[in-house]
Amino acid sequence: MNAATASERAYEALTASRARTDAITAADDVHLTAQVDPLMSPLVWDLAHIGQQEELWLLRYLERADAMLRPEVDGLYDAFEHPRATRPSLPLLPPAEARRYLGEVRARVVERLAAAAPDFAHGLVVQHENQHVETMLGTHQLRPGASLLTPTQSVPAGRPVAGDAVTVAGGPCIIGVDGTDEPWSLDNERPAHRVEVPTFRIARHPVTNAQWQAFVGDGGYDRPELWQPAGWAHRLEAGLVAPKFWRPDGTVLRFGTEEQLTGDEPVQHVCFWEADAYARWAGGRLPTELEWEKACAWDPVAGARRRWPWGDEPWTADRANLAGVVGALRPAPVGAYPGGASAYGVEQLLGDVWEWTSSPLAPWPGFTPMIYDTYSAPFFGEDHRVLRGGSWAVSPDAVRPSFRNWDLPVRRQIFSGVRVAWDAA
Ligand code: AVJ
Ligand code: FE
Repeated sequence: MNAATASERAYEALTASRARTDAITAADDVHLTAQVDPLMSPLVWDLAHIGQQEELWLLRYLERADAMLRPEVDGLYDAFEHPRATRPSLPLLPPAEARRYLGEVRARVVERLAAAAPDFAHGLVVQHENQHVETMLGTHQLRPGASLLTPTQSVPAGRPVAGDAVTVAGGPCIIGVDGTDEPWSLDNERPAHRVEVPTFRIARHPVTNAQWQAFVGDGGYDRPELWQPAGWAHRLEAGLVAPKFWRPDGTVLRFGTEEQLTGDEPVQHVCFWEADAYARWAGGRLPTELEWEKACAWDPVAGARRRWPWGDEPWTADRANLAGVVGALRPAPVGAYPGGASAYGVEQLLGDVWEWTSSPLAPWPGFTPMIYDTYSAPFFGEDHRVLRGGSWAVSPDAVRPSFRNWDLPVRRQIFSGVRVAWDAA
């Protein structure tokens, strides 16, 4: 990429992520300052934090600029210092001031971008803003009452997908990427390295609501033998009987509105423990993230990685359910994206729902922290599980086959679903 193209890409992606933020925070102050759930921040915290991180990486770090916020205000937006549950009691910037602050930071960033080549930090900031947009969409989903959002996309119709699973033959593949190939890849995706992945089978599409209903109907939530001990303990303690937002009458709450459950739509709002139990019930297991990434990006004929599951051409709306602005606000039915299939014929790997893997978050061999050195490293270890592929709420600027997300195994307010894998027959 030459410098002009890279600047244009950075400018366009910064503009696109801001359009998303603006659309999702275009609400009355009362909605922006309220905390709808202890798991989430008030929207106005995410809003100002987006600006504070942009200022930190693109002005203070890259330009050695002086801080725009007074230290006592700046510190409010440190995610490590202030856990989500405590954020409503902080003296946060009111919505109008937060918006003005974001605008001032962005104006200086754009001015500098015209003069100097973009840096990795621009990609980091674009992805950070998009990640908080997804978090804010999670907050909207938890809000009681009529939705404040309007979808900006619709999803294509589904189609019957022939064959449940594909076999991914054992052998070497490349996992992870290098900055030369994926300039916006984050630290935990690097470096590219060779891995032997034994033969396995993987489902062609994510688990659907209808399949999940069959699991419920077969006593899936009442059979401890299907659950890991820690998962069963959590199922009992949290009283899990169905995915979050499912209601006993067979309806589901989507952005505050009651809907009939859509059978052929990928199930979402399940935690790792539920996903793991489902996979066991289906005679399989969750994929490891190595298996997931091989099924997504490896081309066994070419003996090389693809940039996207479908090849090297950039994302288009007929390839995957990713978000342009607000997004579709829902996963697409299975079979909706034949054009997005991977080399192995696996569909809907990107978009729709994040897919739980069995893998804890660990560094790839040769891991080096990026400038934002607390992005990944504090989360390495057994506490978190990796999710892959992105949801309908993710921008194509903020996901790739190598992208690694993570969360605690009990979390399910996120747009999380399941894809089953099986050992080779
Ligand atoms: C990568 C989604 C787990 O939101 O906790 C945002 C991303 N890090 N700001 C999160 C993140 C700092 C992170 N996840
Ligand atoms: Fe953040």
